[in-house]
Amino acid sequence: MKNLFQNIATPFYYYDMDLMQRTFYNAISEAEKYNYQIHYALKANTNERVLQTALEYGFGADCVSGNEVIKAVESGFNPKKIVFAGVGKTDEEIEYALQKNIFSFNVESLEELEVIGEIAKKNQIIANIALRINPGVDAHTHKYLTTGIVENKFGIDRSDILKSIKIIFNNKFLNFNGLHFHIGSQITSLEPFIELCKIVNEIQDELNLKNIFPENINLGGGFGINYENPDKELIPDFKTFFSTINKFLKIRNNQKIHFELGRSLVAQSGTLVSKVLYVKKGQQKDFVILDAGMTDLIRPALYGSVHKIENYSSQSRNTFALAKYDVVGPVCESSDRFAEQLRLPETHRGDLIFIRSTGAYGQIMSSNYNLRKNAPAVYSDELIQKSRLAV
Ligand code: LLP
Repeated sequence: MKNLFQNIATPFYYYDMDLMQRTFYNAISEAEKYNYQIHYALKANTNERVLQTALEYGFGADCVSGNEVIKAVESGFNPKKIVFAGVGKTDEEIEYALQKNIFSFNVESLEELEVIGEIAKKNQIIANIALRINPGVDAHTHKYLTTGIVENKFGIDRSDILKSIKIIFNNKFLNFNGLHFHIGSQITSLEPFIELCKIVNEIQDELNLKNIFPENINLGGGFGINYENPDKELIPDFKTFFSTINKFLKIRNNQKIHFELGRSLVAQSGTLVSKVLYVKKGQQKDFVILDAGMTDLIRPALYGSVHKIENYSSQSRNTFALAKYDVVGPVCESSDRFAEQLRLPETHRGDLIFIRSTGAYGQIMSSNYNLRKNAPAVYSDELIQKSRLAV
């Protein structure tokens, strides 16, 4: 493997396409047992290779901006499998999605519902509406990654469901096609999902009493991954996830259940590969200064998230000495730090450092702050092919 990476300029995102395919296959096989539909959440990673792989396995697309809808359509996703959420859809975004006849607008407020109604009428096209309901479930994840509790900007309050459905029924250009929920991201316990299922059951009981039968229930995404020890769980346990949903969610006749998975599908396939520029001896601690920074991977700076960091070059050395380092980037911000007082094999200038589990919300959240270039993608299958040609 070492030779494979030797001549590539760092930093770059390395994608293990074999692992990605196995992950997609596993997810889709487990979901198909219950006839569940997965929509790949584009926000996690919109690289063309990733989208093409998602398409190959029959995923739909979950979008949160007009440009994501355009990207999904242009990449070949069937509009009948595209869902579009987001609290601030613009008129232009709504019009485009409407003209493409997407599967559903996941509507986040009564105000948005009125606007979609007007635009649909103006265009004389029927808009499919799923109401995003805020279920009041605490996802017990990072405060920036929770979306289903009452204070959030996301979703319609439970007490406004009937009012919203009435608006839909009163406009012949709006078609009620179901309910949507999303409680947050990087949820590592099944409890919040079980709680969500119970609330969805309650809501459905109330609606059924009024002769309202949502055709589709979309439970969103959020299934978490193992950042601390990725090798222990390279493929998330989709089997337990879907079987738990199946156990707790009361599915009504002819009802289709949808999911919008992002992180769990792509995170473990990505590694940010970086080179050590300097090992700086400080007064109280030593710093490993990388050529990758928060402009390449903002998660640690933004959420304090922990990614496993490995010194790849040390594997081929015969020294087993460990040392403690702060692992930092070159950007002029103190928060440009990947790890604090991390124990690593003794590290030297030029060593290759792997920052693991970065296939989701890594490359896509890059910026050009400090006028830095964005780290490009390198795909395992293309790399292997290239190295064969070079022999
Ligand atoms: N559906 C909706 C409506 C969402 O807002 C999200 C994520 C997903 C699905 C996909 O969730 P996933 O399966 O990937 O957890 N930048 C953050 C994550 C933000 C997630 C935003 N919404 C991070 O780096 O952890």
